[in-house]
Amino acid sequence: MSGEDSTNSVTDQHAYDEFCQLLSTACGIILGGNKQYLVNSRLNKLMHDNGIGSLAELVKRLQQYPESKLYVSVVDAMTTNETSWFRDYYPYDFLAKTLLPEMSTANKELRIWSAAASSGQEPYSISIIIDEYQKNKKGFINPAKIIATDISQTVLSDAREGVFDQMTLDRGMSQTRINRYFEPHGKMWKMKNEIKQRITFREFNLLGNYATLGKFDVIFCRNVLIYFSTEIKKDILSRIAGVLNPRGYLILGGSESMANYSERFDVVRLKNGLVYQLKE
Ligand SMILES: C[S@@+](CC[C@H](N)C(=O)[O-])C[C@H]1O[C@@H](n2cnc3c(N)ncnc32)[C@H](O)[C@@H]1O
Repeated sequence: MSGEDSTNSVTDQHAYDEFCQLLSTACGIILGGNKQYLVNSRLNKLMHDNGIGSLAELVKRLQQYPESKLYVSVVDAMTTNETSWFRDYYPYDFLAKTLLPEMSTANKELRIWSAAASSGQEPYSISIIIDEYQKNKKGFINPAKIIATDISQTVLSDAREGVFDQMTLDRGMSQTRINRYFEPHGKMWKMKNEIKQRITFREFNLLGNYATLGKFDVIFCRNVLIYFSTEIKKDILSRIAGVLNPRGYLILGGSESMANYSERFDVVRLKNGLVYQLKE
């Protein structure tokens, strides 16, 4: 290796480390070593469009302008937004068979938070379950509100629009539900208003200030904690505990667990998974 090559690779490693630090401070996502290929593939176009020739230059710009549009776009591009309808099914079964009947006995509005909502499949699935429950019980349930948040403006704007192609629907939406809850929209399908109207979409960083959110009976925080460090996971779980109503439920992703991160929750074991309930 020539002297110049060696200097470049050291510089690149330094820029990569700085970038990882910036990203973790901005949104909690930990990249770990050797994810340069991921950074390249996710930021290539954005850097090109902004006339930025290297990761070192990008880092410099981000450090100079932490409030900039560029900063927001970089964080957005680094998020992984994989999702599907009724993902893992057990949370939705639990919602329909246990949670809604339990909550219906309390005479108040039900508040649910979908805390990493991605393109909307999660909050829409929740809203569909509530609709089905209300229809089966002939309207016997209190009004329900779903707050759907994500840090990525791109996926949030897709979620808000509520228009999906057939391939996306094929990932968990049955034909019966398509017929009932969607209307044709050119070659796509648009979610009906009766399902949308229960949901408020809002940009929110899980590292941010929870004081403006209000309190919730149920929180879906699924498949996002896996991207964070142990310290950040602990911190988020403690903030989540702070915005849950007494004996409220927290539903994590199918492969995520509370481990020793928080002692404020009881484990509720279901047939196909776990959910957590805030201790008294
Ligand atoms: C893999 S998706 C999970 C979507 C959905 N909850 C599910 O389980 O199907 C993770 C989502 O978390 C969001 N995210 C990542 N970091 C975040 C943060 N600090 N605050 C809020 N959302 C974040 C991403 O933008 C992405 O849409």
